[in-house]
Amino acid sequence: MRPGAGGGRRAGAAGGAGGARGRAGARAGAQGAAGAGAGAGAGARARASGAGAAAPEVAAVAAAAAVPAGRGQVLRVRGGARLEGCAPVSGAKNSALALLAASLLCDGEVCIRRVPARLRDVTLMRQVLESVGARVQAGAPGAPGAQGAEEGHAFCVDARALTSARPDAAAVRSLRASILTLAPLLARVGEAEVALPGGCAIGARPVDLHVRGLRALGAEVEVSGGTVRARAPAGGRLRGARVYLDFPSVGATETVLMAAALAEGTTLIENAAQEPEVEDLADFLNAAGGHVAGAGTSTLEIRGAPSLGGCEFTVIPDRIEAGTFLTAAALTYSAVSVAPVMPNHLTAVLAKLEATGCQVGLDGPMRLRLVPPPGGELLRAADVTSLPYPGFPTDMQPQFTALLAGAQGSALVRETVFENRLGHAAELGRMGAQLRQDGSAVMVEGRPPARVPGQSGGGGAGGAHSGLWGASVSARNLREGAALTLAGLAAEGETLVTGVEHIDRGYEGFDEKLRALGADVARLEAGPGPLDMKRPA
Ligand code: EPU
Repeated sequence: MRPGAGGGRRAGAAGGAGGARGRAGARAGAQGAAGAGAGAGAGARARASGAGAAAPEVAAVAAAAAVPAGRGQVLRVRGGARLEGCAPVSGAKNSALALLAASLLCDGEVCIRRVPARLRDVTLMRQVLESVGARVQAGAPGAPGAQGAEEGHAFCVDARALTSARPDAAAVRSLRASILTLAPLLARVGEAEVALPGGCAIGARPVDLHVRGLRALGAEVEVSGGTVRARAPAGGRLRGARVYLDFPSVGATETVLMAAALAEGTTLIENAAQEPEVEDLADFLNAAGGHVAGAGTSTLEIRGAPSLGGCEFTVIPDRIEAGTFLTAAALTYSAVSVAPVMPNHLTAVLAKLEATGCQVGLDGPMRLRLVPPPGGELLRAADVTSLPYPGFPTDMQPQFTALLAGAQGSALVRETVFENRLGHAAELGRMGAQLRQDGSAVMVEGRPPARVPGQSGGGGAGGAHSGLWGASVSARNLREGAALTLAGLAAEGETLVTGVEHIDRGYEGFDEKLRALGADVARLEAGPGPLDMKRPA
């Protein structure tokens, strides 16, 4: 059992472990974001003819002038600061959301620690749970330094007396992960009706694999009018079955896993997702009295239990948040630690960071430290292909693309998990990045700093700039928002990132944590006029 899975216990020998590894790359998308080409942004073109970046004050005015009014909050990033210190890593968003949904399976009180409670997605999931009669209590984290404080917020969910199997459609539609309540409600109540959110900025995100998995377990499932309706077979209990997933989808694996936890008999999920968040869900189900074996491999074996009880559980640290801060450190030639982390969850990301010339090592228990390339070397380019775990995570692809935009040499970035997750290419182009998109791949020609920041004769504080410059850019999803912010940290001048609400969905206190590392990042309210930027009250 992984450390920190309080009350959890690992099911016995991995049943059927060792099946085929995830079929990586099966989803290579056909097309990428529209309009992303080399230096696609107007700002980029305007300055591309010049020898170098615009003077910072010019970039600042140009960027501010381009901010559309009434766009909510904006992150203003002034590039060039070196970062230092240790970034605190929150609980994993994508694990916490699945565990909160899974608490609907439990006939006892569930207490989940290290929930990233300030995330908008967590608030929405809470609303979804409460709309079916679950009682949710969120406790404050302990004082910094106090025992247990590092475990953050605890969410206690009591779903013993559910009142509905139709979660509030408005809350459901604004949260893609709410599809994860379908299987628990179906398994617990015998029927469920869950609205479907539409496609999103990174792809269509269908639910066909979830539906096929539930049908294999005997459910009648109908998808029509933007709603999925499911009913258990006569007798009200799903039946264990063998389920092969055409693609190792994280969400579909979680759906079938939760449905199977209360099914009659044994379920085998083949070509299952191996992501740590799936393993966390399996550990959680076992902590509540379930019987799941093989988590972390491509074959899961689930022996259905008549009921699950309560449990106490601690969410794994967010590997993507940790990877994002390590990438920020690399891009700014800074030495930074992150904690808590499970280093083995970051194997692919660390390998790629090391390929750029950085060194990453353990800096204490559950703590990693990145140091920039030694000997005054520039960051080197490294090709990257997003794949299901244990491959390089799609959720780190935009941030890594930002890193490559400021590295030396050319690199190929391929996105194979989502069909439309290269929107940041056009926005990075506005900052002077040299990117050429071809379908689901982007060729990045890096624009490194003229001298290694901090080396004698180099930039040092106030001079750690890549060849990127500040611009007004817009994030359409959270990882894009993180990538653009990171690029701003290394760019000369001021970058204004709109679409901050996306960042707030998935990064807890993102700008606060960056500021604590020494970054010059401010959260501003876009006022009625384009230049009327003020701090939120
Ligand atoms: N897919 C299907 N049919 C399905 C389900 C998925 O075709 O029924 C496809 C998707 O369209 C996509 C691919 O399979 O092309 C992978 O999707 P997957 O189901 O694995 O992703 P997900 O469960 O919808 C979770 C995370 C994502 C993360 C992916 C991949 C949550 C709440 N979300 O999404 O997180 O990118 O796994 O690791 O767990 C993020 O945090 O920024 C984020 C998007």
